[in-house]
Amino acid sequence: MERMPEGPRILAFAGSLRKGSFNRMLLRYATLGAREAGAEVEELGPEHLMLPLYDGDLEANGSFPEPVAAWRAKIRQCEGLLIASPEYNHGISGVLKNAIDWASRPPSVFRGKVAASFGATPGSQGTARSQMSLRICLSAVGVWVVPRTVLIARANEAFDANGELRDPRQVQALTSLGRALVQAVRAGLADV
Ligand SMILES: Cc1cc2nc3c(=O)[nH]c(=O)nc-3n(C[C@H](O)[C@H](O)[C@H](O)COP(=O)(O)O)c2cc1C
Repeated sequence: MERMPEGPRILAFAGSLRKGSFNRMLLRYATLGAREAGAEVEELGPEHLMLPLYDGDLEANGSFPEPVAAWRAKIRQCEGLLIASPEYNHGISGVLKNAIDWASRPPSVFRGKVAASFGATPGSQGTARSQMSLRICLSAVGVWVVPRTVLIARANEAFDANGELRDPRQVQALTSLGRALVQAVRAGLADV
């Protein structure tokens, strides 16, 4: 895989489309950690995940609808992924699954990438179940996942009026996870 001398390229995104997404609010902390570790991070807005529902008829002859082609190119051009995953009915959101499904189609743009995932929910389990589900899905498409995660429960109370996490331990955990992703990319897992 082509590597940039400036540092690993990381793509950060959330599996939620809504404006006030708690999960998107987490991205800045993990992004900060990855940047501290020397990575170039691009944070994607929800518009990048607004893709048509996967339909095999739309990928005839190995070509993809324009927004899907753009999404696949973003993944192809990075080495690591920071994924903030909501939990819907104990699994990952349809938005995130659909985006993963499109990117997994041949030629898959996922193979050899490294990811770190985390999530926030107003519920008590902090998206633990969706993180398990996401790991299974990412493993299926050849993505290495950093073993630890960060789970933000009671998200409706976790942020202050400025949208900042109140608990410095949660901030630290997320920045640390961002740094860990960069270390994992640098460790060369992608070449295994
Ligand atoms: C269809 C649906 C199913 C949900 N299922 C769960 C769930 O299983 N566990 C949970 O903790 N929260 C669940 N929630 C609540 C979400 O965690 C909450 O809407 C959260 O704010 C979504 O993430 P976001 O803030 O990034 O948009 C569900 C929400 C929706 C809309």
